[in-house]
Amino acid sequence: MRSGGTDAGALPRHVAVIMDGNGRWARFRGLPRVEGHRMGIRSVRAVVECARELGIPYLTLYAFSVENWGRPEPEVSTLMGLLREFLLSELPEFVRHRIRLNVIGEAWQLPAFVREALARTQSATAVHDEMTLTLALSYAGRNEIVRAARKLAEDAAAGRIAPEQISEEVFAGRLDTAGMPDPDLVIRTSGELRVSNFLLWQGAYAEFVFTDVLWPDFGKPEFLQALDEYSRRHRRFGLTEEQAEPPSGGK
Ligand code: FPP
Repeated sequence: MRSGGTDAGALPRHVAVIMDGNGRWARFRGLPRVEGHRMGIRSVRAVVECARELGIPYLTLYAFSVENWGRPEPEVSTLMGLLREFLLSELPEFVRHRIRLNVIGEAWQLPAFVREALARTQSATAVHDEMTLTLALSYAGRNEIVRAARKLAEDAAAGRIAPEQISEEVFAGRLDTAGMPDPDLVIRTSGELRVSNFLLWQGAYAEFVFTDVLWPDFGKPEFLQALDEYSRRHRRFGLTEEQAEPPSGGK
């Protein structure tokens, strides 16, 4: 879903965030790591609220990766508990602001008490069309691509699709993000300069904004700053500058 030209001054249609630095935020304060996650929820609220106020239609948050299952069990349990708490406490806000909750990743791997809160929140917000908040849960980009490839292989083996019919669009339609626009902007906090298996296919032409701010310290001003940086980027999608940004009058 790309469009040529510059997005200078434009608001992204889809913002995705790698929320990083909760553990370090806590360690710098002599607190247990989970306190960083707890404070991270405040940032989640601030960013959702700000995106909604601005009219950004898609916001995707990397909340728990497939690799995160390998963390110490008490940390995983606390994160799962926080997730459920967040979903149930935010549900009235989602309804009030017409925010649809969506999930990507292997959500079936989550404990039943989280799946139950997800199902309740998703069904109560399914009709909302103002903004889609997607949580990446038990998510990994390579894993998602392999699952999509497997679905296509099954379709091909069953004769439902011919190999020559497989295009980028068909492939994208088997990803967890089917029907969503690709992210225009990916923000990563905490000074790390990595993609960490997040939206590998979808982020092909995304603009990246990296900030040293740790996730629990990331709020509305930092989000607005990232959007401002995005608005000054020139997106060319592989074209020349002239093609991407025709001189005025040439449109
Ligand atoms: C990365 O920081 C963050 C996570 C693995 C979890 C993110 C979770 C939240 C913000 C709270 C729950 C989310 C929602 C949507 C309610 P890290 O622990 O890797 O930090 P570090 O790199 O400093 O150790």
